[in-house]
Amino acid sequence: MKPIIAPSILSCNFARLEDDIREAEKGGADYFHIDVMDGHFVPNISFGPIIAKTMKKITKTPLDAHLMITNPDKYIPDFIEAGVELIYPHIEATYDVYRTVQLIDSLGATAGITLNPGSPVEWVEPLLDKIDYVLLMSVCPGFGGQKFQPHTLDKIRQLREMLDIQKPKAQIAVDGGVTIENIGELYQAGANFFVAGSSVFRADDIASAIGNLRDACE
Ligand code: DX5
Ligand code: ZN
Repeated sequence: MKPIIAPSILSCNFARLEDDIREAEKGGADYFHIDVMDGHFVPNISFGPIIAKTMKKITKTPLDAHLMITNPDKYIPDFIEAGVELIYPHIEATYDVYRTVQLIDSLGATAGITLNPGSPVEWVEPLLDKIDYVLLMSVCPGFGGQKFQPHTLDKIRQLREMLDIQKPKAQIAVDGGVTIENIGELYQAGANFFVAGSSVFRADDIASAIGNLRDACE
C-alpha cells in the first residue's frame, strides 16, 4: 500500500494558515488532518467544524477529522456538512460504535475507528466489514509534539495480521510522534496512513518535510 501523509493542522502557524497549507500542498500532502478536542474526552480544546469549512475554502486536498470528543454522533453531521471526507471517532467515546459507523456511512463520508494507546486492536474486529481505516494513537491524545510510544509497533503488526486475514485492503493509520526517524519502521510493520504535526509544520521547510517522510518509507 502506498504511504499517505496527512499533516495535522494543529501544529500550523494559525496566523498564516493559508501559507502553511500551500507549502504542505507543494510537498504533496494527501490529506489534511483536523484534530478536534473538546476539553472532556481529552484535556485540551482545539477547534470545531468551522475550521473544516475554512479549510475547504483554501484547499482541494481531502480532509480527515480526528474527533477527540465525547458524544461524537452529535457533531458528525456538522463535520460532514463542512466537507470532511474521512471521520475518525474514538471507539472509547462512543456508546454504540456500530451506530456511529452507520451514521457516517449514511451521510456519505468514510468512517475510520480510532484506538487510544491503551485500547486493544481486537476491539475493531467486529467492525471490519464496515470500516476501511483504523487509526492507532501512538501518544495519549490531546497535544501535538509528544514522543512516540514504542508499543504501538506491536499493535500495528498485530492489527496488520488480523486485517490480512479479514480485510486486506483496510489501511492502518498512526497518529502521534511520527518522524522521519520512525516512519520507515512503522511502514514496514504494516501502517501506511501517517498523521504528522510537528515534524511537518514545525520544520524549516514544510514541503520538503513531507517529501522526506514519504521517501523514508521506501
Ligand atoms: C494528538 C493529535 C495528533 C497530533 C500529532 O492528540 O491527535 O494528531 O497533533 O502531532 P505530532 O505529530 O506533533 O505528534
Ligand atoms: Zn490526530
